[in-house]
Amino acid sequence: MRIGVYPGSFDPATLGHLDIIRRASKLFDKLIVAAMVNGEKRSSFTMEEKVDFLKRMTCDLPNVEVESFSGLLADYVKEKQACAIVKGLRAVSDFEYEFQMALANKKLNADVDTVFLMTEQKYLFLSSTIVRDIARHGGDITGFVSEEIRDDIMNKLDQAK
Ligand code: COA
Repeated sequence: MRIGVYPGSFDPATLGHLDIIRRASKLFDKLIVAAMVNGEKRSSFTMEEKVDFLKRMTCDLPNVEVESFSGLLADYVKEKQACAIVKGLRAVSDFEYEFQMALANKKLNADVDTVFLMTEQKYLFLSSTIVRDIARHGGDITGFVSEEIRDDIMNKLDQAK
């Protein structure tokens, strides 16, 4: 069975992430979406919330599983016997950082390759930071995140409420 792992901090997951999940789920027998810790970022949502959001967004995709993990991605991939890490590339500016991470992960686990999918053009501008910023100011995040989780994001972040 070919297993792929799509890691991210998903704080929160956006439609850009969902686009990558949908497309990657067609490339593997099983795709594990892993909510992980990026040591450089402070999270607004708890791991439980992130996993719950991702599960609700992907409930129509039978070969997608959602988990959380707080250790090294390279170890997680080994534990799951996955053959590839999936990442989305939004712009040339993402490349250097992603290239570094892919090489570091390869060094830590020689058996795993990183596969990059180009983010769909309409999501090129999108990031979790932008979604949080709009939500905090009471703006409309429709079209940026899944309908299923939109209200929960607003309820948590909208400071005007
Ligand atoms: N569409 C729209 N936005 C997207 C996107 C897409 N297809 N793909 C990513 N983004 C956004 C994300 O929302 C994120 O936004 P933010 O910066 O506002 O949070 C941004 O692009 C960066 O995403 P990504 O490159 O996936 O980083 P991340 O912080 O989500 O995930 C981890 C990084 C968690 C995978 C990484 O830190 C990790 O592997 N941690 C585990 C510890 C480890 O092994 N460290 C060593 C790594 S070599």
